[in-house]
Amino acid sequence: MDHFLYRDGALHAEDVPITEIAAQVGAPFYVYSTATLTRHYQLFDDALEGTDHLVCYAMKANSNLAVVKLLASLGAGMDVVSGGEYRRAVAAGVPGDKIVFSGVGKTREEMALALKGGIRQFNVESEPEMERLSEVAMSLGVVAPITVRVNPDVDAKTHEKIATGKSENKFGIPISRAREVYAHAASLPGLKVIGIDVHIGSQLVDLEPYELAYKKVAELTEVLRADGHEIARLDLGGGLGIPYERSNTAPPLPMDYGALVKRTVGHLDCEIEIEPGRLIAGNAGILVSEVIYVKEGEDRKFLIIDAAMNDLIRPAMYGAHHDIVPVIEPEPGSEPAKYDIVGPVCESGDTFAKHRTMPAVSEGDLIAFRSAGAYGAVMASEYNSRPLIPEVLVDGDQFAVIRARPTFDEMLNRDTIPPWM
Ligand code: LLP
Repeated sequence: MDHFLYRDGALHAEDVPITEIAAQVGAPFYVYSTATLTRHYQLFDDALEGTDHLVCYAMKANSNLAVVKLLASLGAGMDVVSGGEYRRAVAAGVPGDKIVFSGVGKTREEMALALKGGIRQFNVESEPEMERLSEVAMSLGVVAPITVRVNPDVDAKTHEKIATGKSENKFGIPISRAREVYAHAASLPGLKVIGIDVHIGSQLVDLEPYELAYKKVAELTEVLRADGHEIARLDLGGGLGIPYERSNTAPPLPMDYGALVKRTVGHLDCEIEIEPGRLIAGNAGILVSEVIYVKEGEDRKFLIIDAAMNDLIRPAMYGAHHDIVPVIEPEPGSEPAKYDIVGPVCESGDTFAKHRTMPAVSEGDLIAFRSAGAYGAVMASEYNSRPLIPEVLVDGDQFAVIRARPTFDEMLNRDTIPPWM
C-alpha cells in the first residue's frame, strides 16, 4: 500500500497534488511519502515483535538525509556499504551502535572512519578483509565487532544482477568453509566475533529461498557455538520484493517473512537484524516527468519524456518494469494508447517501456513512474550533462525539496581546467 492516489481526478502524494509540486519544482523530480516510509518501516518492526531485533534500513536504496533521518526517528538502525553512507547516517543523527557496515570492498579509511565514529558491527566478507580490519582496529587500540557473511549457496530466484547467495557470486564466504574462517577470525586480536550474516539477493518474490538460507544459518549457529564461538547476533539481510506491477500477484508480506524468521531462527536466542531497503523505500516514491513530444514512428508511437535513463536506470539496466500513470486521471471510458516510452538520452537503451498500454497523454502532460523510491535517485548520474533531478518529501499537506536540482554553474564549476591549458 502507498499514499499516491487520485483525488478529484489528480494524482496526489498524501494530501498534496503532484501538479502543485511540479509548478514549484519543475519536472522531472522524485517525490517521497512520509506516511508510506513510516508504514513500511513499521511493518517490519511489527513483524519481528516479540524478538530482540533491529531493523537496519539498507541505505543504498535511498540515502537522502531526510529519508534517513525520518527512519532513524522511528528507531531504525542503518546498513551502510561505504564511508559516504556511514557519514550520511551519522549526519542524520544515527548513533554508531545502530550502524552495521556491509560490503565486499571496505577500505582501511572506511574501517577507521567507522571504528572511530562508532559501529554496531562489520559484516566481513572475506579473510583478507578480516586480517585488514584486525590490523586497523589494533592500530587504533580498539576491537572490531564482526559477523562473517556466509554464502549459503541458495538460488534466490531473482534477476541475475541482484542475486547474491549463489556460490558463483562475489559475496560472503562459502558456508562449507565457515568453521575454518570463524577459527581464523577468532585468532585475530583486533576482532571480536559476535554473529553470522547472510543476504541472498534482492527483489525476492518467494519465501522459499529465505527458508533454505535461514535453516542453514540456524544449523551453522549450533555448529559454531559448539566450536566455542559466541554467536549472539544474526543479520539476516534484506531483499524482500515489492509489487512493481499492480496487475501481478503480490510478493510475500513482511508479516509472513517475520513469521518465517521466528520459525527458522527464533529458538536460537539471538538478537535478530534485518536489512530491508527496497520494501521500505520503493513504493514510497514516484518519479514525475513531463511529456516533451509524442512522435509518430513508422509502426509505433514514441512518448518522449523529460526523464531519462540517467534519472532512473532500472529499466535500462535490469529490464525492470515500473507502472506509468498520467498525473491527471483519464476520463472514465477514454481510449487507451500504446507507446514506447523513451527519454532524451542519445542511446536506444534509454527506453523505459515498449508497447506500453496506458491512458493517452499529450505534450506537456505529466506522468508518474510508480515504485521509484528505491534505487532511483541513488543510481542517477549526470550523463549527457543532465542535472540530477530534485527530490521532494511530502508529509500530510506539506512538502519540501530535500535535494535541490543543481544549477548549471554548479555543475560546470566542479570541473577544472589544468594550468597548462
Ligand atoms: N543488505 C545487503 C548486504 C544488500 O546487498 C542489499 C541490496 C540489501 C541489504 C537491501 O536489499 P533490498 O531489501 O533493497 O532488496 N539496484 C538494484 C538492487 C540492488 C540491491 C543490492 N543489495 C535494483 O535497482 O533493483
